[in-house]
Amino acid sequence: MHAVGIVAAAGSGSRLGAELPKALVPLAGRPLVGWAVEALQAGGVDEVVVVVPPAERAAFAEALPPAVVLVDGGPSRTASVRAGLAAAGSAAGVVLVHDAARPLTPPAVVERVLTALADGAAAVVPVLPVVDTTVVVDGDGVVTGTLPRATLRRVQTPQGFDRATLVAAYARLADDADLTDDAAVVRAAGVSVATVEGDDRSAKVTVRHDLDLAELQVRR
Ligand code: C5P
Repeated sequence: MHAVGIVAAAGSGSRLGAELPKALVPLAGRPLVGWAVEALQAGGVDEVVVVVPPAERAAFAEALPPAVVLVDGGPSRTASVRAGLAAAGSAAGVVLVHDAARPLTPPAVVERVLTALADGAAAVVPVLPVVDTTVVVDGDGVVTGTLPRATLRRVQTPQGFDRATLVAAYARLADDADLTDDAAVVRAAGVSVATVEGDDRSAKVTVRHDLDLAELQVRR
């Protein structure tokens, strides 16, 4: 089972307040994207494609090992993953789509995703339980309902797919579609999505506090 990892790294990271694209922001002296690539490789992925902001390609090339394939991203995460998938090539039996913004994903999470695919899942996502009470609000911020927490899950990456299934699902999607993850893309095509256990250490770096927590994690 030849596995290709696609790392979405073409976002600006404006919520982090950094001058650099988020994926190039250093964590313990190395860019987030380098950590994300290494996590995929340590978990058993054979090849990695990184989707980058077109204007920053040279900086990414310098930050990553030469074997990593770089592809120009698009205006949305969906457009960026679409570009990465086109570059993944048909040799890949399965693809794992990962966020550069999740630098500290333990290899065991990657292994669980690969195992579920090897066992026959067409799509699989790592998930965690929701520990807070979760509500719905209206436009004024007034609570209009409480969601049943026991059936809710937080979805992480890497998300794993049979390559042909993901390619077919993206082909059905409108050109300007903008979905927050790839499980939503295959679900829109009627594909069932399995789950495996995620990991709190695989948290997404979005704001400065997330980066501070990640720094503490690597120092331990
Ligand atoms: O914005 P958010 O943190 O949800 O982005 C998730 C991932 O998608 C990030 O790693 C980001 O670099 C990537 N992304 C992308 N292309 C875009 C927007 C986001 O590859 N146009």
